[in-house]
Amino acid sequence: MCGIVGAAARANIVPVLLEGLQRLEYRGYDSCGLAVQAGSELRRLRTTQRVADLRAQAEGLQAATGICHTRWATHGAPATHNAHPMISRGEVALVHNGIIENHEDLRAELIAAGYAFDSQTDTEVVAHLVHHLYRGDLFQAVRQAAARLRGAYAIAVLHVAEPEVVVGARAGSPLVLGQGEAGCYLASDALALAGAAQRVAYLEEGDVVRIDPDGVRTVDSRGQEVQRAWAALQAYAGATELGPYRHYMQKEIFEQPRAVGDTLDGIEAVGAELFGDHEGLLRGVRRVLVLACGTSHYAGSVARHWIEALARIPVDVEVASEYRTRDSVPDPDTLVVGVSQSGETADTLAALRHARSLGMHRQLAICNVPASAMMRECTLGLPTRAGVEIGVASTKAFTTQLVALFLLALSLAKLRGRLDAAQEQQQLHHLRHLPAALQAALAIEPQIIAWAETFTRHDNALFLGRGMHYPIAQEGALKLKEISYIHAEAYPAGELKHGPLALVTEAMPVVVVAPNDALLDKLKSNLQEVRARGGRLYVMTDAGTRIDNSDGVHVIRLPEYYGLLSPVVQVVPLQLLAYHTAVARGTDVDKPRNLAKSVTVE
Ligand code: M6R
Repeated sequence: MCGIVGAAARANIVPVLLEGLQRLEYRGYDSCGLAVQAGSELRRLRTTQRVADLRAQAEGLQAATGICHTRWATHGAPATHNAHPMISRGEVALVHNGIIENHEDLRAELIAAGYAFDSQTDTEVVAHLVHHLYRGDLFQAVRQAAARLRGAYAIAVLHVAEPEVVVGARAGSPLVLGQGEAGCYLASDALALAGAAQRVAYLEEGDVVRIDPDGVRTVDSRGQEVQRAWAALQAYAGATELGPYRHYMQKEIFEQPRAVGDTLDGIEAVGAELFGDHEGLLRGVRRVLVLACGTSHYAGSVARHWIEALARIPVDVEVASEYRTRDSVPDPDTLVVGVSQSGETADTLAALRHARSLGMHRQLAICNVPASAMMRECTLGLPTRAGVEIGVASTKAFTTQLVALFLLALSLAKLRGRLDAAQEQQQLHHLRHLPAALQAALAIEPQIIAWAETFTRHDNALFLGRGMHYPIAQEGALKLKEISYIHAEAYPAGELKHGPLALVTEAMPVVVVAPNDALLDKLKSNLQEVRARGGRLYVMTDAGTRIDNSDGVHVIRLPEYYGLLSPVVQVVPLQLLAYHTAVARGTDVDKPRNLAKSVTVE
């Protein structure tokens, strides 16, 4: 989604702004822009093309203070006049992430005060509001403006009369401060500041901050001067390098053995301590509620099978955007688990807050970004260690989420006396085998490429699975549709004859996740139902299933059946199938149309 970078330094910051913006490109955007202090005026550049175009426009531009932005359109079409920064009367420049809910009221008020609007954005309202409130101190004007805003925002603002200053504010959208040898910085994601800042500090809800080349001043939501804790900027070396890969998604698929190994690193035993539970919150849990979106939701759906089977605790898994608006029945003995790659997904954050408002305070975050809002807001946390994930299509974040959720299932089982020491060591042994199992799954890539050539020619596909592999079929369908734009749907295989079988013809490839588990015989009957209607089967199976290639049946076999952990491995061929189909179709694999990496608006 949208990205912000701001800088106030004793050096030319234009390269820093552009480099930062380029690092945020992966989040998805449809226009971008930049404003800098140039002598006695503000200079603005905007484009509906890529950051590379902005870079070309900025050739020769030099400035010591500036802000820039990638925009993912919400209010107003992706057009140059709606791109940020917004400028008010040539004096204020402002960039904004999030949505201002009371923008219509403010717009009416500002029009009455004589302001003219050039865009359809909610952002322009904020620029004019800051201008309207300005009395010689940008920091004060932004504080007053922030007090009038409803909704979620992170902003960065310039005023032509204060050429060394950038002011930022956040509520509901992340904003991070950076400090380096040449000056101070603001960004929506620390990744943007790698190379410029040596240390970073995460702003809290309601903070307003002023930066200049010499330092920062922060005031919290109650108006108190505060200092947010600095931490060394995590090394992002290699995170944005493609190396031998053609796309970030491909790189991230192949990083999975390493990512899973890192997530397991140092874990010798399971239990409450893994999640930072020092108060016994995990004891006495009677239900589990997983809240998440997209791929993270499917990870939760797999975990439901694990937690119910191992710990015998009932589990609900809800799409966060549905849960937060549903009139549900709360149970304070529920462990609420937020699962998220980014830890900033607006719907998941809102669902967790909604659960808290209903008295459900046992909350655990499983996130890939340790400093994210979700990790900070939940009492318990387990970070996944996938590393920076840049492709919009989530891959290594998913497999590491599964590992973290399996550790949760084992821990709950242990706390309830359902996992003895020998069983615990045996399960940990299985987990430690995963990197090798994932490597073996990656080795079947050439066979998947052959399948992908066929899929390229189709406009629809069905995915089938049963039990804990049904969410894997869902994840396979999501991957295929989001990056190849082929319409793909997943069904529990037993549901086929209740409707979707009507779609099955020679033109409808049917992908089946068919491991050698207890449901295999039932699944084989479902395969017969497809073949009898002329449907073509693409079966992902493993050793010992005796499903073989035959007319209309294409089989790829993993070398082993991995028991309860099978979903972690079975998803890999489906990721590869989506990837190679998209490549063959020539789509923008890492930045599929209309999508954003981190969905920070509702
Ligand atoms: O950052 P999150 O895990 O909370 O994001 C949730 C979804 O937006 C995300 O998984 C999305 O579905 C991906 N594009 C799937 O590949």
